[in-house]
Amino acid sequence: MTELAVDALDEAAARAELERLARAIAEADRRYYQDARPDLTDAQYDELRRRNQAIEQRFPALVRADSPSHRVGAPPVTAFGKVVHTVPMLSLDNAMTPEEIDEFVARVRRFLKRPEGALDDFVCEPKIDGLSCSLRYEDGVLVRAATRGDGTTGEDVTRNVRTIDDVPVRLHGQAPKVIEVRGEVYMERAAFARLNEEQEEAGELPFANPRNASAGSLRQLDSRITARRPLRFFAYGWGEADPPVAGRYSEFLERLRGWGLVVNPLTAICRTAEEMVAHQAKIGAERPNLPYEIDGVVDKIDEIALQERLGFVGRAPRWAIAHKFPAEQARTRVRDITIQVGRTGALTPVAELEPVNVGGVTVSRATLHNEDFIKAKDIRAGDQVLIQRAGDVIPQVVEVTDAERTGRSDPYVFPRLCPICQSHVDRLEGEVVWRCTGGLVCPAQVAGRLQLLVGRDAFDIEGLGKKQVPQLIEAGLLHQPADLFVLPRNQESLEKLGQLEGWGKRKIDNLVKSIEARRTIPLHRFILGLGIRFTGEVNAKLLARAYGSFSAWRDGMLKLAAGDAEELARLDDVDRVGNALIGALAAFFAEPHNVKAVDDLAAQLTIEDAAAPATATTSPLSGKVVIFTGTLETLGRAEAKARAERFGAKVGSSVSKNTDYLVVGADAGSKAAKAQALGVQTITEQEFLELTDRR
Ligand code: IVH
Repeated sequence: MTELAVDALDEAAARAELERLARAIAEADRRYYQDARPDLTDAQYDELRRRNQAIEQRFPALVRADSPSHRVGAPPVTAFGKVVHTVPMLSLDNAMTPEEIDEFVARVRRFLKRPEGALDDFVCEPKIDGLSCSLRYEDGVLVRAATRGDGTTGEDVTRNVRTIDDVPVRLHGQAPKVIEVRGEVYMERAAFARLNEEQEEAGELPFANPRNASAGSLRQLDSRITARRPLRFFAYGWGEADPPVAGRYSEFLERLRGWGLVVNPLTAICRTAEEMVAHQAKIGAERPNLPYEIDGVVDKIDEIALQERLGFVGRAPRWAIAHKFPAEQARTRVRDITIQVGRTGALTPVAELEPVNVGGVTVSRATLHNEDFIKAKDIRAGDQVLIQRAGDVIPQVVEVTDAERTGRSDPYVFPRLCPICQSHVDRLEGEVVWRCTGGLVCPAQVAGRLQLLVGRDAFDIEGLGKKQVPQLIEAGLLHQPADLFVLPRNQESLEKLGQLEGWGKRKIDNLVKSIEARRTIPLHRFILGLGIRFTGEVNAKLLARAYGSFSAWRDGMLKLAAGDAEELARLDDVDRVGNALIGALAAFFAEPHNVKAVDDLAAQLTIEDAAAPATATTSPLSGKVVIFTGTLETLGRAEAKARAERFGAKVGSSVSKNTDYLVVGADAGSKAAKAQALGVQTITEQEFLELTDRR
């Protein structure tokens, strides 16, 4: 859709446009604040807001009751306690150009009636791309932490914020009676990249950028998860304060430092618009080298008495402005669309681009995410596209810019075979990702698979880890699982191993011993080691118990892969086996080279039959009070209750001090908040399953 310039709109068009923008912005807010997975880039979102503001300025009579300019965010989700900000958490006006900074300074001077030639200090500091948070200290002790929410009411994230190392739970030195410290929770780029790797290994969707990862991590109902996320905090402001904050903002920043908070070191004092513009350019040049993401520089008048005189207009202070960096966009052409296979077998389409400079960095590839993304934007080889780096680590394709031209190539067809190993690819219902089913034989995945195979829960082979597995693959000593058990009996291979870095005689002897010790292996560990999707420890045990022996399991799986209805029904009847697992098993065993890899490995081993299930005796749940809330993913309510009772628990209906565990499913309501308030331990469905798996 082409947009009319604001100046060209008549009243009816403006009304319609304001309605559209209100809806689009509300939807974007919801995705950002509540789902922590926005679908607009910052630049696109800012553009919607600027357009809305410009139309409202031209047609003040048309400003809607629900106008987005009245709101800073979206209301909090119900599962967290609410916190009312006695001093609202507001937002900042944006400036994009030196002229707008000139205007800002002129506005401030005019408002304060400054005489010609008088200069004021401005503190200019990076605008951190994270999410704002308010930390309330009473007598120096952190008593509450809250998100911004809609600016007036935020969410109580105290338990989560206490896990952030940069946030002192007690202020150092002399602390005021009350001080709400405000600042930004963020994640460093490198930590974000590691987190996304872990997400993908665990089969979870990666986060689009560090800010989303921070939001998702801070808004975890389970603070143990937050504690494992590498969140950080920069302090840059205050809310309620007793005694009031006075003097200069720059002095306040020093006080924050003295209290043990972290203040951004790249702060400067500027006295003219020219100095501010130069400082912003300098920070902009530093931007790619910073360990965290910033999206501009905030200029704030230093003297607090002047801040108070200037006050606020709408939802933003008159005494500050965000001088943003331009969205880093460029146009180029798609040479080709290729497919990358990740370590977990996910196929990611990539646009191979004619190299182009985007904000100082040469870009020649951009992710196309998945099949649906390509379809939605109809991206084809040969197209001219707009790409951007705006904050995101991997360049994105925004849109095709010459779709109207003649002689366009055909729509892109997503491959049905893995480009690396030619196995079939599989896309489960409800998922967007196609995955290669050749897990054990696909060179792209083999290192990951073999690491899982030798890992603690599977074959548990000491001396082989993240570093050694790729080393052995590289040396040609490992290709597929069976090789692991051939190695210790092959003199030539052992000699070759001895020549590799870090492999002395003692280490080799120990490795040989530890491999030989695993030649006899329980069935569930064998199954787990194959790395079939959805076969974690719980499901591997389920399968082992359901079939009893390796040969029975293997026969069953081959029947399943051949579409045998009886076998399907049998597996479907097994308690807690669902469609996702059945689909993954069928896809895996439908690939002849997977079956061969399984057989080759089995030929090296003695696989122990699974013991028949015993009844629960010393269950960790025995005598405990358990409550369920929300929608569970694999268990129905009746089954969950029966299962808890089978393991000796009592199942209650409302949360109280006597509750031992609250099992929280999707869309959990007030119970989760109540449990949090009472300090009752909340666990996920997965954790509940694990608690009830020991028999
Ligand atoms: S001052 C009264 N300083 O930017 C407004 N905000 O666009 C106080 N932000 O909600 C905000 N770095 O989340 C300020 N150095 C900085 C900042 C900063 C990032 C965020 C903050 C705010 C948003 C406004």
